[in-house]
Amino acid sequence: MNKKIVIAIDGFSSCGKSTFAKAIANRLGYLYIDSGAMYRAVTLELLRRGLFEDGVVKTSTLDSILKEINIGFSFDSSRNSYVTTLNGEVVEDEIRSPQVANHVSLVAAIPAVRTRLVELQRELGKMKGIVMDGRDIGTVVFPDAELKIFMTADPVVRAQRRLKELQEKDLNVTFNEVLKNIEERDYIDQNRDVAPLRKADDAVVLDNTNMTVEEQMEWVDDMVKRLTV
Ligand code: CDP
Repeated sequence: MNKKIVIAIDGFSSCGKSTFAKAIANRLGYLYIDSGAMYRAVTLELLRRGLFEDGVVKTSTLDSILKEINIGFSFDSSRNSYVTTLNGEVVEDEIRSPQVANHVSLVAAIPAVRTRLVELQRELGKMKGIVMDGRDIGTVVFPDAELKIFMTADPVVRAQRRLKELQEKDLNVTFNEVLKNIEERDYIDQNRDVAPLRKADDAVVLDNTNMTVEEQMEWVDDMVKRLTV
């Protein structure tokens, strides 16, 4: 039987990390975990509780909320994929809303949030045979991952891809709004004090500006084969 490994995929927002990560996980029969969905779920909970004041999170009750919050993934046969759950409720669509996108990087910069979610992510990775994507997977969550990929793409191409995705869901946003959100999140993600987005020293870079998913799979195939025999 092939050796099971951990694959860590980090990179900028809307680079197609999750599409790529899912394709690798499917090919290998691995578990795929979208760590961004976990930050989005916490953000949704804080928005629902009205805990943002002038764009800042009121932190007094945060610790108890983080202790109570239950984030998971369950298989949805109608979508033929895993969906994110928050305290048992499927929130897959709500966490992709522009409102959550506009607040998530602020929430992800809060140290207590990161400590709690990293703990959950490591728990999920214990058995190996996992592909996880995010911002700090190769640097903080799984520094010993056998394969680390750092993804990037031109911001304009990224905004076009995200706009198409949002339009397919009938969400009414403009190209400029999407580009602004991507650039703001890139800035916050790279400049925060805790676990900023950066390439791990031992990560391989994948710029997919002009690549299809199939081309990306060809690119990764040999590496995966070598690491799993
Ligand atoms: O889908 P997209 O790549 O735009 O973002 P995402 O993966 O859903 O992540 C949403 C946000 O969560 C990011 O912009 C980061 O601020 C934060 N995040 C993080 O800080 N660390 C992670 N491991 C994953 C996401």
